[in-house]
Amino acid sequence: MGHTIWFMEGLSSQRDIISGVQEFFKHTQQTVTLIASHHHQRNEILSLADIALIEPDNDEQRMDFIVTTVKNYGVKALHTGRNCQWFETHRQEIEALGVSLTTGATSITMLTLADDKVEFARAMEAHGLPVVPSLRIESAEALRHQLSSADNKQALCVKPVTGIYGMGFWRFDDTATPMSVFTHPDSRKVHPEMYLYALGQQEDFRPLVLMPYLPGPEYSIDMLVEKGRVIAAVARRKEGALQYLEQSGPAFELGKACAQVMQADGLVNVQTRNNEKGEPVLLEINMRPSGGIGYTRHSGVNLPALFALRQLGLMGESEATLLATDSFTPAVVRSMTDVILYHPTLDNLSVSNGSA
Ligand SMILES: Nc1ncnc2c1ncn2[C@@H]1O[C@H](COP(=O)(O)OP(=O)(O)O)[C@@H](O)[C@H]1O
Ligand SMILES: [Mg+2]
Repeated sequence: MGHTIWFMEGLSSQRDIISGVQEFFKHTQQTVTLIASHHHQRNEILSLADIALIEPDNDEQRMDFIVTTVKNYGVKALHTGRNCQWFETHRQEIEALGVSLTTGATSITMLTLADDKVEFARAMEAHGLPVVPSLRIESAEALRHQLSSADNKQALCVKPVTGIYGMGFWRFDDTATPMSVFTHPDSRKVHPEMYLYALGQQEDFRPLVLMPYLPGPEYSIDMLVEKGRVIAAVARRKEGALQYLEQSGPAFELGKACAQVMQADGLVNVQTRNNEKGEPVLLEINMRPSGGIGYTRHSGVNLPALFALRQLGLMGESEATLLATDSFTPAVVRSMTDVILYHPTLDNLSVSNGSA
């Protein structure tokens, strides 16, 4: 088999990545075989690939599964968006199979740094990159103390030090009614006393980041990075329900600088937000593809395809960089929920013992 690329389970964009790659190679002479795997029966993702596999649930079986699959199908490139710490620990073993491995990072250190938003903020500051001022809160009493000494509680917000999907992000608001967090959860505003009360009831305290609330707009920068070198990037400026696809500006540049400092490797995402001076500051880096990476296709730049081309050795670095800027046109997109047909059975499903 010629060029085989394998997308293992990711967090939220495996389907868009696979369809980006498929779409590109449909219009070329190159034949690329695409394998998709997931540990759940996610047929809407798996059905898109040439070959579908169900991943084992546990760490112990994963290496055997990888060895078998790489050998059976002659996999050249392997991408994962989940279990990245495990993959990074087994990098040498996996690469010894003759496959290139993409975890989003080049070391466990950087994955760990990206996971801790306070440590991340410190590291970025040390590199001279603007980042949201972040204070680690270790107890309910500590938060009460900080809030009581703040001039303007309204200007403060919290989120978990380690977290995803925006879960646990709340703005403090003295004028919020006790019920408003239940009636208007999407406003993300809570009366400080309500929050402190709930926090005080919590048995195991999970550390929080206390930050100034930034007015925005927010940017999400999707990038293809190779060992810290940014090959391609598209920024999404979020304004209400609309997202503006851009390829220049201070937030775009800050995103690239962050990926470089973090020695990112693969499809990754940096988020920034403008402070009250209108300057972007870093919120976080996700060392994996963002949920919205698929939106960037509307700018003409196909980040997943560029990734596949590079990993399979089908395009040089400078050619990829050039294509990423040449194919770009500014665009505005709006996300909406949709449904697709779900096929309860897969006709491309193979078994991991490789009798395909
Ligand atoms: N300091 C802040 N000011 C305003 N909004 C924020 C701030 N920090 C986070 N947010 C909002 O919360 C969301 C989630 O925060 P983020 O740092 O991206 O964490 P995660 O996505 O890992 O949960 C952001 O997309 C942003 O909209
Ligand atoms: Mg985020």
